[in-house]
Amino acid sequence: MAFSSAQKSDYDQEYSFKEILVRLWAFAVTEKRRLLLILALFMINTVISIIVPLFLREAINELSKTDPDFNFVQSLGWGNLIGTVMLWIGLYLIIRSEWSIIAKTVTTLRLKMFIQLQVHDLSFYDKNKTGRIMSRVVNDAWELGNFMLIFVELAANFITIVGMIGILFYIHSVLTLILFMIAPIIFVFTLGLGYLLMRFNRLCRRTVGAVNGATQESIAGIMVTKSFAREAQNIEEFVELNNENLRANINRSLVFSTMFPILEFVSTLIYFLIVTSGGGFVIDGSITIGDLWLFYIYSLLLIQPLISFSQQIAQFQIGRAAAERIFSLIEIPSEMKWGDIIPGADVRGHIEFKDVTFGYSKDDPPLFSHLNVTIPAGQNIALVGHTGSGKTSFISLLARFYEFQAGDIYLDGYSIKAYDIDAYRSTLGIVLQDPFLFSGSIEENIRYGSQKEISAETLQSAIMATHVIDFVEFLPEGLQTDVGERGAKVSLGQRQLVSFARALVANPKILILDEATASVDAYTESLIQDGIDNLFEGRTSIVVAHRLSTIISADRILVFNQGEIIGDGTHEELMVNNEVYRDLYQTYYEFQGRV
Ligand SMILES: Nc1ncnc2c1ncn2[C@@H]1O[C@H](COP(=O)(O)OP(=O)(O)OP(=O)(O)O)[C@@H](O)[C@H]1O
Ligand SMILES: [Mg+2]
Repeated sequence: MAFSSAQKSDYDQEYSFKEILVRLWAFAVTEKRRLLLILALFMINTVISIIVPLFLREAINELSKTDPDFNFVQSLGWGNLIGTVMLWIGLYLIIRSEWSIIAKTVTTLRLKMFIQLQVHDLSFYDKNKTGRIMSRVVNDAWELGNFMLIFVELAANFITIVGMIGILFYIHSVLTLILFMIAPIIFVFTLGLGYLLMRFNRLCRRTVGAVNGATQESIAGIMVTKSFAREAQNIEEFVELNNENLRANINRSLVFSTMFPILEFVSTLIYFLIVTSGGGFVIDGSITIGDLWLFYIYSLLLIQPLISFSQQIAQFQIGRAAAERIFSLIEIPSEMKWGDIIPGADVRGHIEFKDVTFGYSKDDPPLFSHLNVTIPAGQNIALVGHTGSGKTSFISLLARFYEFQAGDIYLDGYSIKAYDIDAYRSTLGIVLQDPFLFSGSIEENIRYGSQKEISAETLQSAIMATHVIDFVEFLPEGLQTDVGERGAKVSLGQRQLVSFARALVANPKILILDEATASVDAYTESLIQDGIDNLFEGRTSIVVAHRLSTIISADRILVFNQGEIIGDGTHEELMVNNEVYRDLYQTYYEFQGRV
């Protein structure tokens, strides 16, 4: 066993560049005005940055004359100053608009991903690790936001490069070509470094994702870790992942640190060529000193776009991969089919499983094949069977946590696939085997059960009926007590009672209850039993039973064995004619009766 790392997920799709562009465009149009503003500002800034040095070039040329016009030089100085101030203002507006576009894109993407995560059935979560999904919602959204702006920045850089080189070429083609000899060096270096940077960046992200995942998993499983004294092994595994991240970080810093010396070297090479070759052209009169200065300044100014050009190519790859991951997540269809029937207030709760075939994985033999059972409205059914026999799976299908592969399940004669998702679920009250509470107060957790506003009276009668009141009254903050993350601050028995109350306030027509196997003290046990009895009243109820009292009081018992229902009847009937049931009874339940 090892902690999960951040790799590709099963549902990841490959997108062609065109498909990505189409999707990006759909985002871009919502921000069209701002994007156009950025584009316009970039263009204006690019042109100004090309023009600004020309003022100084003219000034130097004027000053090199025997009789310079000082007024003219001064106004050129002003021109240079005003141009530069305009550049700053432009830059301010660009950065501000860019950040706001990125922030908005990130927000929109996160919302879309979150919505999609609510839509998926449980098989999605069985297949995909939390850490991977998290990194999409958190990190990839930023990458994609940046990605949207790359196109604009690439265009601006392109114009700067072409514009400056064009002007230099116009002034002196030979000197431009000489300087151009350096261009391949810059290009190869920056492209190479850009590529390395991209690789190490990705590695850094991946490894930090693994570190995150390991930390998360270790927190979630801390009790297990401690009870098995696995701390040392956990630390060992963590050290491995942490060191991988260290290596990636060191490699990345190596790339960063070589970048600046190389840049220094390139600029020195430029001075050298400008002085040695350019100097000659000044002496023979083919260029002025102002031109020489312009060559110098433009060359320096050109390094930046050349570097960002290669970084943008790297960023482009990163953004593209992030886009693929995000669009994969947003666009993966849910396997669950729903209809639009809205069950009215007259729902009876008649349930029928007809030839239902279901397996968690399509590759393995199915858990249920051709399962048939009818549960008349209002009946109270107990499901029993050895561990792993399929009880939880049975109710998971009814709750539509998973989609079955063949056959059908009917509620009041209609396929449950034909119902509207929210309406169907609100006819069910589900209490899970491991009652999950959200962080928040006890009251918030109880109210979570109903989509409608719950009156104070309803709340009160629910906490009375389920005996939540019995422990809440001893808490200093009562119903407002914070239950902690995953409900960790209240006991398991208390969590169960709260989850009963949560199901009860929703007033469901059908109650599904997966009794916790963990035993609780006799007092809580009696509270729970009484709570359950209150829940059952006037409802079709299906209970995965682990307690004798639940079984004895059931109208009917279904005995599960390896995905089949091999017994169906009352306790007395099954005791007589069902061997598995008799075994189960003698192993587990009879013993409880004696306590
Ligand atoms: N999410 C899942 N993915 C794959 N297989 C699963 C999943 N959940 C359950 N199974 C498998 O399906 C079978 C039935 O499991 P199920 O949880 O329905 O048993 P159960 O009768 O509720 O057992 P218990 O009494 O221990 O709760 C088991 O073999 C189990 O390994
Ligand atoms: Mg179970």
